[in-house]
Amino acid sequence: MSVRPERGITRIVTALDVGSSKVAALIGRARLDGTVEPLGIGARVCHGVRRGLVADMAATEVAIRGAMDMAEAQAKTQADRVTVSLGAGGLMSHVKTVEMAIPGQLVTREHIAALLADGRRRIYLKPRTVLHAQPALYTLDGETPVPDPLGFHADRLSVDIHVVSAETPPIRNLDSCVRAAHLGIQTIVASPVAAGLAVLAGEERDLGVALVDLGAGVTTVAIYGRGLLVEIAAIAMGGQDITDDIAAAFATKRAHAERLKVMHGSAGIAPRDNHEQLETVPIADEDAPETGRVTRAQLNQLIRARLTILFQQVADALTTMGFTGPAGRQVVLTGGGAELSGIAEFAHAQLARQVRVGRAKGLSRLTGGEATGALATLAGLAAFAARDPDDLWSLAERHAARARADDSRSPFARMASRLRSSL
Ligand SMILES: Nc1ncnc2c1ncn2[C@@H]1O[C@H](COP(=O)(O)OP(=O)(O)OP(=O)(O)O)[C@@H](O)[C@H]1O
Ligand SMILES: [Mg+2]
Repeated sequence: MSVRPERGITRIVTALDVGSSKVAALIGRARLDGTVEPLGIGARVCHGVRRGLVADMAATEVAIRGAMDMAEAQAKTQADRVTVSLGAGGLMSHVKTVEMAIPGQLVTREHIAALLADGRRRIYLKPRTVLHAQPALYTLDGETPVPDPLGFHADRLSVDIHVVSAETPPIRNLDSCVRAAHLGIQTIVASPVAAGLAVLAGEERDLGVALVDLGAGVTTVAIYGRGLLVEIAAIAMGGQDITDDIAAAFATKRAHAERLKVMHGSAGIAPRDNHEQLETVPIADEDAPETGRVTRAQLNQLIRARLTILFQQVADALTTMGFTGPAGRQVVLTGGGAELSGIAEFAHAQLARQVRVGRAKGLSRLTGGEATGALATLAGLAAFAARDPDDLWSLAERHAARARADDSRSPFARMASRLRSSL
């Protein structure tokens, strides 16, 4: 993605990640190079979102207000328009190729603007909503790929447009919650696009990488290649399912099960786990006042059982999306679930690919030194807002505006350009 520095000067950007377990907000200052200086961060537990979708508007609104108030107080500034994530709702990525005939002519800005305008008309998949549309690759005469076709001769000019879309009702519901919290939406960004910006290196995105966001309610698998997000799959399973399994098996409260998982849980096996005893708090204190005991091995067995199911689905999704062969070897785990001890080794064994954990960088000053996968989407949203990357709309307008400017410069230039095109 290209960066437009002229828009990056001392702009305040606000990011809002509405997840199944928490809402997080970040206010930052966009730097000249497209990075963000974080000024304030806030997070609130949210019970209004289920599997990435708003299920309780009032609860979601309260969490948004709470997270935003915290971020605003720390940043000492008021937010108005936010860049917000969408992590579910049938997120889909596809490539649309549009072509135009320009028999033997020199490719001009008018041609590119017309091609992109045609692309704009064709990418809509009603009743879905397009979140991102990025012209990726131009091709001359169906065979020569060029990054910029301007000035080449061709009979046919085509462009591949990468489109990320979602179902419309979940977007409207998210919009309603954000508005109810007295905020406006600047942009809605698909969570895997944001998380990818925060945790993937440019070279990884070019060579091919799968980004697996282990959230609370949803696990998203996003395939990147040639610098772009090419495919998305969402699995309706996440960290909350591990917690629920623990709560059910040990007849303990969810909050206690969550603590057991986060503080003592692991995806690995160690012989000493059989000897380490952990206390469980019974679900109904009055009926069973005695605290119970389980071994760490029992806890980790439950965690591994759920992760085995989850990563089998991740492996199936990778195969279905064609993430195989030499370009299908790198996997990056992120999201809160990637903080589980031993997860990278577990995923490496189950997916038979190189695995690393990707965490949000640059936020440690505000999070008390903690760099966490759970904030990757949030950091990526802020990065997206700071970069304000080119899309189909901005590029089409830019080419059309430049073409008009070239045109109005002089009648001779216009004639010369026509003459060149017809040669
Ligand atoms: N140290 C840890 N060990 C194990 N699990 C953890 C740890 N830290 C966080 N988690 C789990 O990560 C999950 C939350 O992750 P995250 O904040 O990325 O989800 P979310 O964005 O709210 O939800 P989603 O993306 O699914 O809508 C919870 O299930 C939580 O238990
Ligand atoms: Mg999330």
